[in-house]
Amino acid sequence: MTSGSGRLIVFEGPEGGGKSLQASRLADSLRDDGHEVLLTREPGGTPLGEEIRTLLLRRDGYTMLPVAEALLMSAARAQHVAALIRPALEAGVIVVCDRFIDSTYAYQGAGRGLSMRYLQVIQDFATGGIEPDLRLLLDVPVSIGLARRWAERQSVNRIDAADAEFHERVRQAFLASAAAAPDRWAVIDSRQHVDLVAQDVRAAVAGVVQTSAIGSRTEEATAPPDRQP
Ligand code: TMP
Repeated sequence: MTSGSGRLIVFEGPEGGGKSLQASRLADSLRDDGHEVLLTREPGGTPLGEEIRTLLLRRDGYTMLPVAEALLMSAARAQHVAALIRPALEAGVIVVCDRFIDSTYAYQGAGRGLSMRYLQVIQDFATGGIEPDLRLLLDVPVSIGLARRWAERQSVNRIDAADAEFHERVRQAFLASAAAAPDRWAVIDSRQHVDLVAQDVRAAVAGVVQTSAIGSRTEEATAPPDRQP
């Protein structure tokens, strides 16, 4: 559980799962329901974090060792938690974050092959032990997710550009984490229509946030298509 009275809800998953769109839709629907919400992302979220994000994701620069990548991700996270996330949680705000510590375990641990033991110690150091109240895994097969990313060419970053085996290890790591702790994760099939994904997100969030009427207006206004079998 997080510190203070707020809630920390994080979106996780492989590339091309539509996390950013769904995080923004969730934040809007929670605000419509009267909650105070902070929508943020990793790496990033603070001026320093956004600078570090640029260093991490640019494709035209330099080679980067996996350990340097892990430490830069964690440096951005330390700043993010101290400057933004922890104060918001203590003020009772619902923090919706696009990626958090589990991305480091999946990408730098399973993907790059770094020691999970070290990564866990660094995460504790960076976050002071803050844990999400809910992790939403927007799952999509690697071939579909990467194709979506390449279709929007300008958004393909240094990490997106890694090979498919790397992305498969990342996806499998997310799925394994979710399977090992089903009370902390909700796995959502992101091949569905975006409105159905949003509906699944709201249903999962109802378990951690008072959601008397979340999304009801939106759903009435734009009826989502029928679920695929
Ligand atoms: P995205 O959030 O737009 O997908 O871009 C962030 C990229 O950074 C994505 O490829 C995943 C990667 N990443 C890590 O490798 N480790 C991390 O800890 C985080 C937060 C992101």
